[in-house]
Amino acid sequence: MNRLTDRAHEICGAVLSSGDVAIDATLGNGHDTLFLANTVGPDGRVYGFDIQERAIDLTSERLGDPLRSRVELLRESHAQMETFIAEEDRGRIQVIMFNLGYLPGGEKEITTRTESTLAALEASCRLLHPEGVISIIAYPGHDAGLEETEAVAAYLNDLTVNGWNYQMIEAVPGSDSAPRLFLLRRQGGS
Ligand SMILES: C[S@@+](CC[C@H](N)C(=O)[O-])C[C@H]1O[C@@H](n2cnc3c(N)ncnc32)[C@H](O)[C@@H]1O
Repeated sequence: MNRLTDRAHEICGAVLSSGDVAIDATLGNGHDTLFLANTVGPDGRVYGFDIQERAIDLTSERLGDPLRSRVELLRESHAQMETFIAEEDRGRIQVIMFNLGYLPGGEKEITTRTESTLAALEASCRLLHPEGVISIIAYPGHDAGLEETEAVAAYLNDLTVNGWNYQMIEAVPGSDSAPRLFLLRRQGGS
């Protein structure tokens, strides 16, 4: 795992307790889901989304028993996440993690897209607990990733006039092309 992933786990882990509910918006190889499932414990719940069957399988395998029973694995776009979150969990999701881009070792064409990413972020803001955090790792090192990263940054910037704060951590400070981690919270939240 790269250092931004570790940093995201550290920051998300600080607001996540046993019994909480979390979302992994991009399952991929399942590293983030494994972290979330371990942290919410046996009384917590994790929803995981990915559009690829392969990501569902890899994550399920990585989780194994008994962690798998804490996670609802959904082969759906994160843009539709609200449809799949139980009524009692809405507004009480402590952590929502995004790791944009394509599945490492998979087809590079199957990647997150600006339009669905922004729709998922909008839904995430509605689902999040007042003290929760949304983490987004973005990759501006290639054309589609650059457009997506810039759109995410602009979206987060607009949210700051609507009661939200965000922070950006760059993998390589000052580099335009290096991955970056965005952390979004409600003002006055955690
Ligand atoms: C960089 S990987 C995620 C890495 C993962 N978090 C991990 O820990 O291994 C990005 C994933 O996003 C998925 N993805 C692309 N578009 C998506 C969408 N609209 N909804 C949900 N997942 C999507 C891809 O299939 C890919 O598996």
